[in-house]
Amino acid sequence: MKEQIEAIQAEALARIEAATEPRALEDARVAVLGKKGTLTEVSAGMRDVPKEDKALIGALLNTARTAITTALETKQSALQEVADRKALEGIDLTLPGRAVHHGSLHPLTILRHQAISILRRMGFALAEGPEIEDEFHCFDALNTPADHPARNEKDTFYFDSGKLLRTHTSSVQIRTMEAQPPPVRIIAPGSAYRRDEIDATHLSVFNQLEGLYVDRDVSLGDLKGTLEYFFRELFGSETEVRFRPHFFPFTEPSFEIDVKLHAKGQAPRWIEVAGCGMVDPAVFTSLNAGRKDDAYNPDKVTGFAFGMGLDRLAMIRWGIKDIRLLIENDTRFLKQFA
Ligand code: PHE
Repeated sequence: MKEQIEAIQAEALARIEAATEPRALEDARVAVLGKKGTLTEVSAGMRDVPKEDKALIGALLNTARTAITTALETKQSALQEVADRKALEGIDLTLPGRAVHHGSLHPLTILRHQAISILRRMGFALAEGPEIEDEFHCFDALNTPADHPARNEKDTFYFDSGKLLRTHTSSVQIRTMEAQPPPVRIIAPGSAYRRDEIDATHLSVFNQLEGLYVDRDVSLGDLKGTLEYFFRELFGSETEVRFRPHFFPFTEPSFEIDVKLHAKGQAPRWIEVAGCGMVDPAVFTSLNAGRKDDAYNPDKVTGFAFGMGLDRLAMIRWGIKDIRLLIENDTRFLKQFA
């Protein structure tokens, strides 16, 4: 039996040594150590070994098993190493890795976040309303007469039902005041739609942000201070802001706001960024009629409202020359804001 064990060990070690691939190595293992392997079978013969020889044969068996197992493991890692080296052949591990491209926020989103955060710091809360509006909330409630050009089919997208795509987010101001008494201090960022010819500065949909503040003793000074502060926060503390008298049906007095643009390689010039004004008392009166109360009594409350196009602000902020870039999703353009 001693010779048998030694022979098995010698043969197994030779076979393992000769193996050149994992499959051959596994076959060798099964042939010797498997359930019906040669060494396993010899081990089963231990039963019949005379008592006095058991210790010696047992030790031999153990030595053989250990030697074979160790040889298997050594060979296996050697084969693995060869396989690994082969897999890496022709690959230059010193080359720089491929950059992972992260998405980034759209410039309009960046700007909207900034605008909202400045106004929230001043106590304005977010409000929402439908983009498919009725004429009442878009026009009548805002003191806009039936013959106003904005109500023309040429300027506004109407549905057969008579509803329309809101031409401004001022409708949200009305909806908010219908739903709650003063004080009201809200901003309503959202899409607005106009039938404009599409060119470098016009699209038929744009991103508006309107605000409304109604309370006792809200003054034109509050309006000026709030919006000057807003534009200086957005464009830098040196920004010059001017208020130019204008007309809107729902505010009186009304203004357009310009900021001085200092674009590289261009003479500084004023550029219009927003409309604003003190809420016209007629708007309050008609609101009270709808609410059937006197919450917006024009002798007791006053308010200011403003509206601006975020697309325009983004163009100023980053010197973007064509508004269409904002909707084309060209990554060469968008990457610059990452
Ligand atoms: N709704 C006006 C527009 O779309 C902007 C505006 C809002 C003007 C509030 C005055 C007050 O042009």
